[in-house]
Amino acid sequence: MPRMTINGRPVEFDLDPDMPLLFALREAANLTGTKNGGANFDDGGSTCECGACTVLVDGAALRSCRITLAEAEGRFITTIEGLSRDRSHPVQQAMVAEQAIQCGFCTPGIVMAAAGLLSRNPAPERSEIEEAIQNDCRCGVFPRLMSAIERAARVSQRQESISAAPAPAIDTKDAAEAVPALRVVPDPEGPGS
Ligand code: FES
Ligand code: FES
Repeated sequence: MPRMTINGRPVEFDLDPDMPLLFALREAANLTGTKNGGANFDDGGSTCECGACTVLVDGAALRSCRITLAEAEGRFITTIEGLSRDRSHPVQQAMVAEQAIQCGFCTPGIVMAAAGLLSRNPAPERSEIEEAIQNDCRCGVFPRLMSAIERAARVSQRQESISAAPAPAIDTKDAAEAVPALRVVPDPEGPGS
């Protein structure tokens, strides 16, 4: 049974070793932040080119539909859920600050590809970013994505700072205090009514 470390936790999959890692992450480990943009289990996932399934394997960005559980044996996998607990990674902060997210389907894969790029090349040229981020985005925010990754590089090198992105699962009431357009309507059935 293939064993590996996912987001810092040692795990063992009681699954076909030929299964692409993508399917084990999503269907068995419930790590659905890693997206499937068109990989099929039957063909080993090898025909898709979208990059939505990108994770870090021993720190390098790889498409999880292209690596089997057997190939992932003994390796350290990081998914979008494990990149930071509070969305404080510079790429995540810059994505929010640059409003580089539309539907968000491509975002986890691009964040992981960018995180992998910055870990091996902290100050990439625009051409190096374009070469490294070969992910599809159907929402047309690629120019903002590129700007966000350049900004993330500056943040990583402490040339710039960004206030942290909102923490996950923020309470609606707290969000309403931070977002002027949002108001929490009192529940007419609630206490005190
Ligand atoms: S799902 Fe892996 S490249 Fe598209
Ligand atoms: S933000 Fe929708 S696919 Fe990229």
